[in-house]
Amino acid sequence: MGVGRARISASVLDADLSNLAHAVRRLEKAGADRVHLDVMDGHFVPNLTFGPKTIRHLRPRTELPFDAHLMISEPGRSIEEFLDAGCDSITIHVEIEEPIEPTLRRIREAGRAAGLALKPATPLAALEPYAELLDIVMVMTVEPGFGGQAFMRDVAREKILPARKVLRHKAYGGEVHVDGGVNRETAEFVGALGADILVVGSALFVKGRDMGREVRLIRALADEGYQFQLNDGQPPIPRDSMVRFTALPQHLARELMDRIEAGGIPVIMLRSDGRMNPNGVRDYDLLVPATAEALVTERHATDRDDYGRRADAWRDAFAEPAESRPR
Ligand code: DX5
Ligand code: ZN
Repeated sequence: MGVGRARISASVLDADLSNLAHAVRRLEKAGADRVHLDVMDGHFVPNLTFGPKTIRHLRPRTELPFDAHLMISEPGRSIEEFLDAGCDSITIHVEIEEPIEPTLRRIREAGRAAGLALKPATPLAALEPYAELLDIVMVMTVEPGFGGQAFMRDVAREKILPARKVLRHKAYGGEVHVDGGVNRETAEFVGALGADILVVGSALFVKGRDMGREVRLIRALADEGYQFQLNDGQPPIPRDSMVRFTALPQHLARELMDRIEAGGIPVIMLRSDGRMNPNGVRDYDLLVPATAEALVTERHATDRDDYGRRADAWRDAFAEPAESRPR
């Protein structure tokens, strides 16, 4: 788990496609956070790459999560194959002519993240009818089809920051991806617009450059943009870190955990080295994502006090009968 905020999803489009297993191993060693898989059908875009079978065979070659980016006209026909292939997220294009909703629903039903991607000329408003079904918004800053094209700065400026609003229904875990032309020259700019996931292709496969250094550099530049241009100089909250919200006896911890999770925020319940209870079991910590701490506090500060009082009452009640029992 990395520190910082930005994450790199490495596109293998510009790798040697006859040896994808080698490419993903290299990316993993270089510290990429995920693999971005560009599927093209020669119809939606004027290029062809690979399909679900290739992804399925690639799946056991790395531990990294797979983000599939389907630049195909009819994703509905093959969605089961992409799910079976082991994609962690699947993003389809909003410009396709077949119904979009059933495919997004199917992706989510299968427990994966669902996304919609936008070509440079497509306005963000096109996503609104599907907003509630989205975990990912992918802003394309090149025309889809080929790696190594020039970054479209105006498109980024117009869409990346507002893309967050499309994901407003997600209390936690919504992601804005930026895809196309992201490299050491443009990373700070997209970081400053709050992009969560930077798709990076050709910049990682430049001969003579160290891939690991490139990954670290791009991530650091994106975080620097975020910190100094979007976040008033405050360092970003590390994306994967968890913080303690409260500690409670087990049965109460479980109840409060369910309440918090009902609002779309994941909780980890851990037996701690804190307070010992009269039943001989210490309190459990409830850990929440650091990035959602403020929201959890806003929603559940009163719950936290109430549960604290219930814990005291439970401890007293547990201790009393034993004391009043005749010897
Ligand atoms: C373009 C693809 C992108 C692209 C990224 O159609 O969707 O993922 O390969 O590559 P670079 O970083 O070279 O623009
Ligand atoms: Zn892509």
